[in-house]
Amino acid sequence: MTGVLVRAIAITGFGADPEITQLPAPEPGPREVFVRIRAAAYNPVDSKVAAGVMKGQVPFTFPLILGTDGAGVVEATGAEVTAFDPGDEVYGRFADYPRGLGSFAEYGVVAEDGSIAHMPHGMLFEQAAAVPTATGTAHEAVETARLDTGKTVLIVGATGGVGQSAVQLAALRGARVIATAAPDAEELVRDLGAAETVDHTAGSVADQVLARHPDGIDAVLDLVEPAEAIGDVVRVLRPGGIIVSTVGALDPDELTEREIRAVNLVHRPSGALLATLADLIDSGELRVRIQHRLTFDEVPARLVDFERGHARGKVVIEI
Ligand SMILES: NC(=O)c1ccc[n+]([C@@H]2O[C@H](COP(=O)([O-])OP(=O)(O)OC[C@H]3O[C@@H](n4cnc5c(N)ncnc54)[C@H](OP(=O)(O)O)[C@@H]3O)[C@@H](O)[C@H]2O)c1
Repeated sequence: MTGVLVRAIAITGFGADPEITQLPAPEPGPREVFVRIRAAAYNPVDSKVAAGVMKGQVPFTFPLILGTDGAGVVEATGAEVTAFDPGDEVYGRFADYPRGLGSFAEYGVVAEDGSIAHMPHGMLFEQAAAVPTATGTAHEAVETARLDTGKTVLIVGATGGVGQSAVQLAALRGARVIATAAPDAEELVRDLGAAETVDHTAGSVADQVLARHPDGIDAVLDLVEPAEAIGDVVRVLRPGGIIVSTVGALDPDELTEREIRAVNLVHRPSGALLATLADLIDSGELRVRIQHRLTFDEVPARLVDFERGHARGKVVIEI
């Protein structure tokens, strides 16, 4: 790999415009696999990283290749790798900020015991790339809230990447799902398993839920509301309920006093979780909807569109 140049979408500093560039191919360590990435997917974290939201929290190297999730074919393995062979189709998380690496590139490296797994049988690269961060986070949120039969959960942000998987996974566990959806997406979330919908563009979500469930509900997965807005949503919980935020919006101490368990979830990706998701996808129990397919060359100009939100599925990139 030494000396080989790789096409990548990278930034030269926080806040800089993403550009297509040529960078040296990453060298796999003894316990890493070297992957020809065939598809990547966009996640909001990619824009947050580029904007410098995580500056100072972890080391970064520039140029920094953007992108977290990807799927491709193992081209070479480090000397100590045992779980993967050249030719294996894999998917996972390729972001490695200290080395300036990401998934928006022709090649990437991942530790074999990191966040990588064999792709579900018969799955396309673009479908696999759409899974790791969004569906992995949804799985962890649903497990954290201990949703099961008889529980009622409100999912705020149900129409996006994390939300669509969370709706399906909560419904699979037998929970009654109330999903937020603007009118254009109501049918979409019902098709994924939501029993009820509330239109967050038509007034307070909490008021709409409490009108139907005056005694409150068991759980909330809030994937979007910032700290200043999440207090209103908390009103739907009955004492003993749980709320999970993926955007760090909660004050757990304050809510404990109100007999509500509050969890600011930071997703911990793993190969084992990806293997679990692969099984669910393979069996047809879990679907991941692709909203936009982009060529590599289209990405720098289109990223700004996706940062505006209104996701109705995943954005995937052919590489
Ligand atoms: N903590 C972690 O480890 C972790 C992991 C993954 C993701 N995240 C974060 O979780 C958030 C969601 O991720 P994602 O990938 O699902 O994002 P996404 O694909 O952009 O989806 C967000 C969805 O929420 C909807 N929405 C926006 N404002 C809303 C509101 N006030 N009420 C109800 N729905 C609303 C959007 O549609 P409309 O705008 O049309 O309503 C969109 O469908 C992001 O901030 C992401 O960075 C955190």
